[in-house]
Amino acid sequence: MIRPRRFSGRDPSTLRFPVPKGGPWAAPPSRRPRARRMASGGRLLVASNRLPLRLTGGAEDGWSCSPATGGLVTALEPVLRRRGGTWVGWPGCPDAGQEALAQAAPALVGGAPYGLRAVSLNREEEHCFYQGFSNQVLWPLLHGFSALCDPDPEYWRSYREVNRRFAERLAEVAGGGGTVWVHDYHLMLVARELRELGVDGPLSFFLHTPFPPGELLESVSCGHALVEGLLHYDLVGFQTEQDQAHFVDAVRRIHPEALSEAGGGVELTFGDRRVRTGAFPISIDFKEFFGAAHNPVVMGMAWDLRRRLGDRSLLLGVDRLDYSKGIPQKLRGFRRVLRRHPELRGRMVLKQLVIPSRDGIPAYRATKVEIEGLVRAINQEFADLDSPPVEYQYGSWDRMELLAHYREADVALVTPLNDGMNLVAKEYVASNGGGGVLILSQGAGAAWELGREALIVDPGDPDAVARAIVEAHSMPLRERRRRMTSAQAVVRSRDVHRWVEGFLSRTPRMA
Ligand code: UDP
Ligand code: G6P
Repeated sequence: MIRPRRFSGRDPSTLRFPVPKGGPWAAPPSRRPRARRMASGGRLLVASNRLPLRLTGGAEDGWSCSPATGGLVTALEPVLRRRGGTWVGWPGCPDAGQEALAQAAPALVGGAPYGLRAVSLNREEEHCFYQGFSNQVLWPLLHGFSALCDPDPEYWRSYREVNRRFAERLAEVAGGGGTVWVHDYHLMLVARELRELGVDGPLSFFLHTPFPPGELLESVSCGHALVEGLLHYDLVGFQTEQDQAHFVDAVRRIHPEALSEAGGGVELTFGDRRVRTGAFPISIDFKEFFGAAHNPVVMGMAWDLRRRLGDRSLLLGVDRLDYSKGIPQKLRGFRRVLRRHPELRGRMVLKQLVIPSRDGIPAYRATKVEIEGLVRAINQEFADLDSPPVEYQYGSWDRMELLAHYREADVALVTPLNDGMNLVAKEYVASNGGGGVLILSQGAGAAWELGREALIVDPGDPDAVARAIVEAHSMPLRERRRRMTSAQAVVRSRDVHRWVEGFLSRTPRMA
């Protein structure tokens, strides 16, 4: 039975922003220009902070380009590839704009049937908007790590300005047509800015992260502006029904006039606009992962991997560097297995990939130090084994290497403390050879869909993680196969293309 996603339960009153309620975030005096019609339907216009690639270098030495990491890009890229359209976002490097993108992107996405439009950030904006408000205020707030919030009034200003710039870029690209779909926590205020620019056509938003309980939003000054910002969209989508309910609760507390309850249902109206909400659990391109895992090159790599493992079971962890991913807790759970079960020593290896992320932020660097300290300590403690029990890698794998690991892993340890969805869980299911066991955190959105097939654990409890590892290790092959086949059926039937159809079918049409 899945227990609801846990939030940290920290006292929300400890989270105070040095910005007065209704301060810089209050709606500016009405200066609405003549309404600009932006028709829905037709061309898809996606806006997210991250584009599917990230540039490095500079105008003088030349730009180079590598694939972006993270679940948002994994999910959206096949959607844009299938449907075409335009993707508006930040190229990932200060001062890189459309020209840099035009120079460097063709090497990576040259033949892609969609366009890329850059929103350029300077170094200060990277610091204040991206690392600051987005990732040192909003990310911890949304994931229940309020104590890590580092509020700074400059971050607020920058967030607002960059949201405005995204809105201007979108208005320009849309040119009066297309379905505008804004993604994730970096861009919560884009609709409000578009309304300010006079755009009155339908605007949709999808939040990839969890949405915290209403009382948390109510207790922070930015919470008011953020909730109000979301009410300027016509459709606001969340990963789970719990996230959706938290948002409705936040509206009830902060903007009670926007909410009416009738016949057991709730309706949101903001001004003269009806605001729809919904739960749309994001997914992956199942066919692509399943098919590629049967590619002969991947099968060869998987075979090599198995040969190197000998008779040891492979426990796999694939996580972006993030304190929300519960990597230290996972390592402690694994250490507990080795301490308590001498018979299992030398019979399993935990291969943990940590994908570099946001390493300019102190909390991320501290998480890395903690992880690496634990890996060292575990491998020292069990140094008498033929090979180290933890194989740790800090870096990225290409798709083939990732698939080979998914295919071959006996167990995937997906144990975030709190996660919007966690696509690694779904990718493992889609790519596994059939006998693997998914250990899944109750704090991952994916647990709402895979609760019956996975072993669900409380990720903060190393004993629970250790018990699940032992249970997975001793699970009969028939049971493993039964669970994996059933999990594959779930992910196959709810893939990312169905997710898009479900979302877009709820997007209001222009009257
Ligand atoms: N991933 C990646 N680089 C790698 C290994 C994995 O970009 O070297 C991808 C992985 O395939 C998955 C994403 O990173 O799609 C992680 O998504 P998830 O939803 O699990 O978490 P997020 O990083 O978005 O918080
Ligand atoms: C999560 C967020 C995405 C983000 C990704 C990678 O999935 O929801 O919006 O793109 O992490 O993080 P980064 O900071 O590198 O974009």
